[in-house]
Amino acid sequence: MRRKLAAGNWKMNGGNAELDDLRTIGERHSAAAVDILICPPFTLIAAAAQIAGSISIGGQNCHAAASGAHTGDISAQMLADVGASAVILGHSERREDYSETSDEVRAKAHAAHAAGLIAIICVGENLAQREAQNTLDIIGGQLATSVPDIANGENTVIAYEPCWAIGTGLTPTTDQIGGVHDFIRARLEKRLGTGAGRSIRLLYGGSVKAGNAAEIFAVSNVDGALVGGASLKANDFSPIISALEVSANAS
Ligand code: 13P
Repeated sequence: MRRKLAAGNWKMNGGNAELDDLRTIGERHSAAAVDILICPPFTLIAAAAQIAGSISIGGQNCHAAASGAHTGDISAQMLADVGASAVILGHSERREDYSETSDEVRAKAHAAHAAGLIAIICVGENLAQREAQNTLDIIGGQLATSVPDIANGENTVIAYEPCWAIGTGLTPTTDQIGGVHDFIRARLEKRLGTGAGRSIRLLYGGSVKAGNAAEIFAVSNVDGALVGGASLKANDFSPIISALEVSANAS
């Protein structure tokens, strides 16, 4: 059984004041039947880890090297050192803003694993690729190159985030989400074997909110969500966590 995961990506949002929302989530969901992870900006990770309670804390990126002359960068080891247990890698905003390639994402995933972090590897098509019916080719290619051979359910999570659904209020149909998640599962099982391939959790991300969470969580091979905007406020994220708990208890 894969334990479900509600993950929040705060992106470049939040200061010390917003740690109150994290504290509230921790208090409200202290005995949750699902895993909860919040990935605040680098500046808040150490403080967040101090108050997180049963919530896990993660980064939103790391460098592929363990240390060295890389001004402005943060290594996976540094994230682990201040209390992170996971790191988001290959988010579409990084693939787009920094031209990150799947080869770089795989190198970062190796660094994350070496530091003992869970690598949350993001894949997803853009609107033109979706409209050209290239979605599965794009996802298949990103998976093949971004995911390391040693990936398993302990060290890796895959997040399917269609670029056109991020921050737009648009979401794929549940059939579209299910189609991609089933495809990812099949690819992982074929490549990594059924043991590892079946144990890796698959998150959906892109405009998840309280109003659509339950129907998304009912889709096959959806093991949770990677939530952007609706993870910033406790009152928005909390119902999403609760919906995931309901789905965990039902399965
Ligand atoms: P939104 O939930 O704001 O659409 O963002 C999704 C996302 O990019 C999470 O990584």
